[in-house]
Formats: sequence, C-alpha cells, structure tokens
Amino acid sequence: MAENWTPNSWRHKPIQQVPDYPDAGALKATEAQLATFPPLVFAGEARRLKKSLANVAEGNGFLLQGGDCAESFLEHGADTIRDFFRAFLQMAVVLTFGAQQPVVKVGRIAGQFAKPRSSNIEKQGDIELPSYRGDIINGIEFNEEARIPNPHRQLQAYRQSAATLNLLRAFAMGGYANLDNVHQWMLGFVKDSPQGERYRKLADRISETMDFMKAIGITSENNHSLRETDFFTSHEALLLGYEEALTRVDSTSGDWYATSGHMIWIGDRTRQPDHAHVEFCRGIKNPIGLKCGPSMTADGLLELIDILNPTNEAGRLTLICRFGHDKVAEHLPRLIRAVEREGRKVVWSCDPMHGNTITLNNYKTRPFDRVLSEVESFFQIHRAEGTHPGGIHVEMTGKDVTECTGGARAVTAGDLQDRYHTHCDPRLNADQALELAFLLAERMKTGREEKRLAVNG
Ligand code: PEP
Ligand code: CO
Repeated sequence: MAENWTPNSWRHKPIQQVPDYPDAGALKATEAQLATFPPLVFAGEARRLKKSLANVAEGNGFLLQGGDCAESFLEHGADTIRDFFRAFLQMAVVLTFGAQQPVVKVGRIAGQFAKPRSSNIEKQGDIELPSYRGDIINGIEFNEEARIPNPHRQLQAYRQSAATLNLLRAFAMGGYANLDNVHQWMLGFVKDSPQGERYRKLADRISETMDFMKAIGITSENNHSLRETDFFTSHEALLLGYEEALTRVDSTSGDWYATSGHMIWIGDRTRQPDHAHVEFCRGIKNPIGLKCGPSMTADGLLELIDILNPTNEAGRLTLICRFGHDKVAEHLPRLIRAVEREGRKVVWSCDPMHGNTITLNNYKTRPFDRVLSEVESFFQIHRAEGTHPGGIHVEMTGKDVTECTGGARAVTAGDLQDRYHTHCDPRLNADQALELAFLLAERMKTGREEKRLAVNG
C-alpha cells in the first residue's frame, strides 16, 4: 500500500477547485450516507482495464476515451445514453479496423459530473454569481439559489451513475453491441455523408471482412467477441469527498480502489504534486489519467509519475495531452523524450478538445479543423520519436448538436445557436466524432504501411 496514505489523507493537503458548501454538517452527513452505498464498479473490472491499458502502453492497442464534458441531471434518459453508446461503438469499430489492434473503450460517463472552473465567479450583465461547478455540486441556472452548493446533489449523481451504468452494461453485454448492427449503421453514414466517397473505401473493406468471416462460419451468434464488448467508465476525480466515500478495500487483493468508476483522472488545474488530488489518486489502484497542458514541464511530469506510479506498472498511468493545435509541437516532444529517457511506461493519449476552445458569437466552441490538426500533429510527433500514439480523449455526444464548428456537414458560427446544449464545453456531434475516427483510421493505416515498408526495406 502507498506509504502514509489513507482514503482521507488528501484532507491534510492544500486543495484547488473546492466548492464552498454553506452547511458543513449536511455535507458530512451526505458523505457518511454515500459511504454505506454499494460500489458502482468492482476492483476486478478496474484491474481488467489496467491490463488492457498495459497492452496499449506496450504498443499493442489503442485507447478510445470520450463522452460529455459534463453529464447533466436534465439530460438523463435512455435515448441520450443509447445514442452516445452507438456513436462511440461506431468510432471504436472504425478505429479497430484502422489500427488492426484492440481498441480499449472508456466512456466519460456514469460519474462525469464535477467541473473545474477558470473563475470562481460568473458575470452576466451587472450580476455576479458563483460559477456553475457541475450538477453534482450546484445548478446551472443563473440565480443565487441554484448556485449554492448542495450536498444532496451527490446522492442524485450517484443514483444517476448507477442507472446509467446499468443500461451501459446491458448494451455492452445484451446484444446491442453486436457488430452486425454497427456495420449496418456505418453504411448509412457513408450514404448520407457529404464526404461519402472519402469513407466508402474503408466501409467497403469492413463489409468485405464481415462477409468473409460469415462465409467461413464466424458469426455473432457463435462468437461472443462479435456480440459483446468490454466497456469501461471514467470521470475526473475532482470532488474528493464523494470519491473518498466510494473508495473501498478490495477483498481479493486488500488494496484500495475508487469504485465510482473504472478509471479516474486528474485535471490540468489540480495536478500540483503536493496537493490533495494527487494525494488521493496515488493511493488507489485504479488506472489513472493525468491531464498534461502547456504548463507541464518535463521535470514536473517525472515527479508526478514517481508519485502516481512508483513501481512503473504498465497500464496504471495514461498521460492525456491537451496542448492546443498550435502548441503541441512545442510541448509534446520534450515530454516524450523525458519519459523515454527515464524508461517510464505510460499510455500517450491526445485530448484535442481542451487546448482548442475559442469564443464565437458568445458561444464557447472548437473548430473541427483545429481538433483534427492537433490529433494529426500528435500522430506525426510520435512517429518521429518512435513512440506509440496510444489513444484519443474526446468530448462528444451521440446527438446532432451544433457546438463545434466545421466537419463534413460544415457547422458555421451562425449555426451554433440552433442546438447548443452542453452544460460545459462544446462537444463533437455524432457525425464529427465519426469523421474524426475515419480520419484517424486512415492515418493509422498509413502508419502501418510505412512500418511494413521500413521492415521489408
Ligand atoms: C475536462 O476534461 O473536461 C477538463 C476540464 O479538462 P482539463 O483538466 O484538461 O482542462
Ligand atoms: Co471539458
């Protein structure tokens, strides 16, 4: 076990982004109640995810992580979850085909409720109110009452997470994830897409492969890997009182696990090595993500790796890089070189969302070409450094929202007002998410061909 660590040792450290609950007694009572609730996920599942991520760290797999910036109480419905899951699975199939490697599927879902904010205050006109911090903490409505942190929201977030996870498990194991369904939908996408021609080739090859497999007797009826899939959950471990209440000893190993989700990550604003969030995460055995923005230095990263993964266990740590399309070339190579020099085992993942946010017509948005550009640079840099570009981390939804501009269907600045529904940052809509997956698949294919040529001289 980590030295001098307990589930509440973070309480003795300085902390950022902490909500100001007016009623400390009510908060304490809620945390005590949460501590009696059943775990949402099991330690054995977190270990299985870690094993899959260890393969990715070794170059034999790809991590697809995505979902809402912030889940909301209002949008909690079966359709929203199903549409997300369908878009996500479609991306996964396209990426599996491109990478010719297993794709590890991790949603930002069933617990992604707490948000770090750049400012404690939101101003509209002459009125200043405390910022919205996610539905688990306060309400998004711009009035004084809604913005007061309310501990009861933690119970609602827990229950929503449990219900979401229940449906996701049913989808993943109960027939919805059957590859036959994904295949049919993909043909629909190719037919309707303005850039249909561009994708037709890949979709045709997937069709041919499926037909060939059927012809030789491998079908979803007789093969469970075509019928079922492993799907894991993740969120930012920001609200530490909630996380502590759901941290439990695994009876098999005697180790502590966060049972609020399979994987949790540390945000770019709360990764100070001597602060509370890093302290909490070092003691639990789940796979951990660490956001790396432009202010991350090579030495700072090595220090955090020492704290979070002292035994250099592959699969334990995923570095989620979010520099911005115009900064990735400046920052990523030095981090890769430091990690390589010290022989640290990590998964390198690219979050092309959080460094590419701009404001247009008073809407926070992200131009799709900048998102693509960061991903492209990420791949190129890894190819040049001889390291494995191991994954992507995106904010996305299965719905037809207009939050990010661009993409094959060319969402314009003027369109943003039509269906701008996010509770926090702008997400890729289902088309944009799939387009990103197709483009990535093309890159991966080129990468494989280059490698083959290099090997064969
Ligand atoms: C997020 O992932 O929603 C987020 C706030 O990211 P970051 O910590 O990288 O800014
Ligand atoms: Co976000």
